[in-house]
Amino acid sequence: MDAERAHTLGISSLARLQSSPKLLHAVGKIANKRYPVLHQEILGLPFASPIGLAAGLDKNAEAIESWGALGFGFAEVGSVTPLAQPGNDKPRLFRIPKERSIQNAMGFNNEGMDAMHERIKERFPLHYPLGVNLGKNKATPMEKALDDYFTLIPRMEEVCDYFVINLSSPNTPGLRELENPKSIKALFSRATQETDKPIFLKISPDNQIHYTVEQCATAVGAGASGIIATNTSIDYSLTNEAKDFGGLSGALIKEKSFSVFDAIAAELYGKTILISVGGIDSAAEAYRRIKAGASLVQVYSALIYEGPLFIRRLNKELAELVEMSGLTSISEAIGLSRNEVNL
Ligand SMILES: Cc1cc2nc3c(=O)[nH]c(=O)nc-3n(C[C@H](O)[C@H](O)[C@H](O)COP(=O)(O)O)c2cc1C
Repeated sequence: MDAERAHTLGISSLARLQSSPKLLHAVGKIANKRYPVLHQEILGLPFASPIGLAAGLDKNAEAIESWGALGFGFAEVGSVTPLAQPGNDKPRLFRIPKERSIQNAMGFNNEGMDAMHERIKERFPLHYPLGVNLGKNKATPMEKALDDYFTLIPRMEEVCDYFVINLSSPNTPGLRELENPKSIKALFSRATQETDKPIFLKISPDNQIHYTVEQCATAVGAGASGIIATNTSIDYSLTNEAKDFGGLSGALIKEKSFSVFDAIAAELYGKTILISVGGIDSAAEAYRRIKAGASLVQVYSALIYEGPLFIRRLNKELAELVEMSGLTSISEAIGLSRNEVNL
């Protein structure tokens, strides 16, 4: 089946699932096993598991309760833009099965902030932290781009637990041009005045490492609560199966995403909250990111390949890894390999 059609069908079945409380409860009993060793409190929010849903899968917040039932400890919806927009022309979503990867050029197709607000309001607060990932409309001129984020924050504030400012999608022309320290500083200095909710910066894996670290340090200096690393990559040399447009995700970006995360953690671990995303496809990989300094991790592509019981397996195996390490809580594992390096 065409990848985008399969995606739409998947989301609509999860939306149907949450409209039946009985069915949702039954699925939760199977998929949402809780492990006390995985529980932690971060920024005042309770995370039953460090495994979260990455942005872009539930762009319009249609299945928010279902993500909890599948075992996610948190979920991020969006990217949402102020106004509804159709996104790029189709086809724009491609599987690369041999590499267990995906290439997408969706372009922030979404129903806009008012529709998302209405939908979340019916169910918020959830029993897990919900993030809203913010993007700019394609039609907003670059000189007004930052205003889109200042429009989104007050509108969405009452229906989320944290925000993510996304300057790193490769599919909105000009967006990555905002990923410079000057814009980041202007954006975070003002955004953090507009809300008390935590705000994260989500960054791209495609810049020079020292520049990426500077971007992140600038965001944190201007009040960001943390960094989400990384978004998809436009490094098409990673495979000869790639098209020459859109962003790559999944196993193909695993090492790139890890090394960008690791460089950020070398500078910022202990000073801010770090979330790792990109190519996480097993409990061992999630644990490696956590030991490198991630308080939380997110998945997207591996869920597509592994199916809905993947998160149950990740939680079970991650809890086993924590116990096998002789630790009593996942929070003791955060940054463990950094501390070993420093000793
Ligand atoms: C089809 C698709 C759409 C995405 N849309 C968004 C988005 O709207 N906003 C965003 O911040 N990231 C988006 N992402 C990036 C993911 O959140 C994640 O950073 C990236 O896929 C790497 O994780 P993975 O290797 O586990 O897939 C998207 C990814 C895919 C595959």
